[in-house]
Amino acid sequence: MLRFGILSTAKIGRELVVPAIQDAENCALTAIASRDLDKARAMADRFGAPHAFGSYDEMLASDVIDAVYIPLPSSQHVEWSIKAAEAGKHVLSEKPIAIKASEIEELIKVRDRTGKLISEAFMVTYAPVWLKVRELLRDKAIGELKHVQGAFTYFNRDPGNMRNIPELGGGALPDIGVYPTITTRFVTGEEPQRVQARVERDPQFGTDIYSSVRAEFGSFELSFYVATQMAARQLMVFHGTEGTIEVKSPFNANRWGAEEIELTNQNHATSQTFRFPDSRQYKRQVEAFAKAAMGEAAEVVTLESSLKNQQFIDAIYRAGEHESWEKV
Ligand SMILES: NC(=O)c1ccc[n+]([C@@H]2O[C@H](COP(=O)([O-])OP(=O)(O)OC[C@H]3O[C@@H](n4cnc5c(N)ncnc54)[C@H](OP(=O)(O)O)[C@@H]3O)[C@@H](O)[C@H]2O)c1
Repeated sequence: MLRFGILSTAKIGRELVVPAIQDAENCALTAIASRDLDKARAMADRFGAPHAFGSYDEMLASDVIDAVYIPLPSSQHVEWSIKAAEAGKHVLSEKPIAIKASEIEELIKVRDRTGKLISEAFMVTYAPVWLKVRELLRDKAIGELKHVQGAFTYFNRDPGNMRNIPELGGGALPDIGVYPTITTRFVTGEEPQRVQARVERDPQFGTDIYSSVRAEFGSFELSFYVATQMAARQLMVFHGTEGTIEVKSPFNANRWGAEEIELTNQNHATSQTFRFPDSRQYKRQVEAFAKAAMGEAAEVVTLESSLKNQQFIDAIYRAGEHESWEKV
């Protein structure tokens, strides 16, 4: 069993990842740390964790955990990933693991020096729906892929929310722009070469709230938009020479709506629906992470992949500053 400590009492931990750690076959929830000991205790009691700490440092210094899960505000992921690895703990950090690609280069050095696993919590790469899309593309179920289209939006103008605070790593691109990019890269195995983008910021918050992106990969194009002040929507569509794959509820499996793939192949005049009622992507994520941390074979998100994803996001920001193509 990999003994997990949780850095903070964050919502994503409380609602999805901590219950997943409890369900996982090879993980144990041993500690919760918060800046406030009472909050840590309350959450530890609620989930039956034997230890509670009133500071993140104290938990890292303890020997009751082997690994940490970090759901802190995004701008703090790098700092605490480094501290945790240096303290001898494996690290599962929430996305985005960093705000700039250069920070991930630093994390790679820390990983290599400490020998600890550091992985970004892109739960979508463990989700059955995305493994199926990858398989369908590899099997040429839609012929040659030509275009990927994506949308991820929600409405949130709460000035106290991390997503609207630049110092905490707020912005639509770090929060949700990372999903069309990681999923497209994950299922195709290809990388973007150049990008064009329109990036709009909120005049009050200063964070990016809308981006419309066009990116050229080797043999296909990806276009997507993300927004934090538009009605909620999530969709990814893969369009090839023979058919299409529509991924419904592609990111928040079965929370946003039923997670489904609609596959059509015009050459064979067929259409098929794949349903994934038992996605449990967070449980699969922590189980794979624990296996990898314990030296067993498992496919997890590598820092090298995170670096490429962040280089893509960095290029989108740069492209948003002018009208021409920007190299990734
Ligand atoms: N993979 C997913 O599906 C998914 C979904 C949602 C969010 N996320 C990611 O998870 C992370 C946390 O998101 P969330 O919405 O769960 O956050 P949240 O509820 O706002 O929690 C963040 C936690 O960080 C701690 N913290 C430390 N310094 C802070 C500061 N200056 N301001 C506010 N909080 C501070 C607080 O814990 P204590 O007070 O206990 O110390 C707080 O509970 C983000 O990076 C986000 O991108 C991922």
